[in-house]
Amino acid sequence: MESEKKIIFSGMQPTGMPHLGNYLGALKNWVALQDDYRCVYCIVDMHSLTVRQDPLVLRKRSRELLQLYIAMGLDPEKVIIYFQSHVSGHAELAWILNCFTYMGELGRMTQFKEKSQKNADNINAGLFTYPVLMAADILLYNADLVPIGEDQRQHMELCRDIAIRFNNIYGDVFTIPEPYFPKIGARIMGLAEPEKKMSKSDGANENNIVYLLDRPESIIKKFKSAVTDSGHEVKYSPDKPGVSNLLTIYSAAAGVDIKQAESAFEGKGYGVFKQAVGEAVIEFIKPIQSRFDDLNRDKAYVDAIIRANDERANAMAGRMLRRVQKKVGYPAV
Ligand code: TYM
Repeated sequence: MESEKKIIFSGMQPTGMPHLGNYLGALKNWVALQDDYRCVYCIVDMHSLTVRQDPLVLRKRSRELLQLYIAMGLDPEKVIIYFQSHVSGHAELAWILNCFTYMGELGRMTQFKEKSQKNADNINAGLFTYPVLMAADILLYNADLVPIGEDQRQHMELCRDIAIRFNNIYGDVFTIPEPYFPKIGARIMGLAEPEKKMSKSDGANENNIVYLLDRPESIIKKFKSAVTDSGHEVKYSPDKPGVSNLLTIYSAAAGVDIKQAESAFEGKGYGVFKQAVGEAVIEFIKPIQSRFDDLNRDKAYVDAIIRANDERANAMAGRMLRRVQKKVGYPAV
């Protein structure tokens, strides 16, 4: 029965189009899990305000991301897909959880440290309390499982700590969520700088990032210019970060394990290998792009999806929020 299924929650920021790291690290799993769980997938536009945004661009990107969720194969009648800013419960629960989170814990978050360095002129309070809003996202839906990439591990641990702390005071209110990482692809690195993770906020070198809406010619070009390592063997190894990253991408894209990928390219040069990785990526991206283009032309359908899903998300979040509000002692309405 639907209500007996475990609950999944995950989210993605609408800053820039998702890239291969987002897809292989998170989105691919979202689709794979949608039949076996009750899934709630959010476009976390409120999180994006922690860095200055152009309002028109943010609004457009949020809608495009929702379309991309559907284009990737998420069924909007089965899973809930919605904008975070359309469910006020996120902000309301975040406030409560702020009062159960310590400054020291937030100060230790590596993402806060990195983002403060990158945005030295705008180290705002939202950037600092970002992980509390993320915890609220997850706990608001009583999620059992949270499919994410490796870079969100620390935020996830904090979310669990906050939930356990709250439960110790008020009884079993929150489900303690577990992170869910992909077997292959939890940390996709940049193509031009394979020592650093592929990241939207690192857009200076466009060849570093493959976006899900990149056209095939551009994808091939980016893979052809990917940094490889000395030697000529296609082998997964810590001293070959470039080749290892490409092997990871190939394995995840072609659905084979790393060993199988290595043997497929035994005795072949880097040139042939890089071309093949690009082609494997194009293969799974093409149908996504074509569905995305169709949705772009069907405004009425997308609007209806947004309305219906907002309602479902608000109903689910509202139930949990009221429970928490009662526990902490808000007066009854
Ligand atoms: P965001 O928007 O930066 O990234 C979305 C998802 O993509 C994963 N990811 C990667 N995986 C592998 N390799 C990479 N190079 C790579 N880059 C990104 C991320 O781990 C993430 O799973 N704080 C979150 C969004 C969020 C959220 C949540 C996630 C807000 N609330 C609640 C889960 C649950 C973020 O900024 O992800």
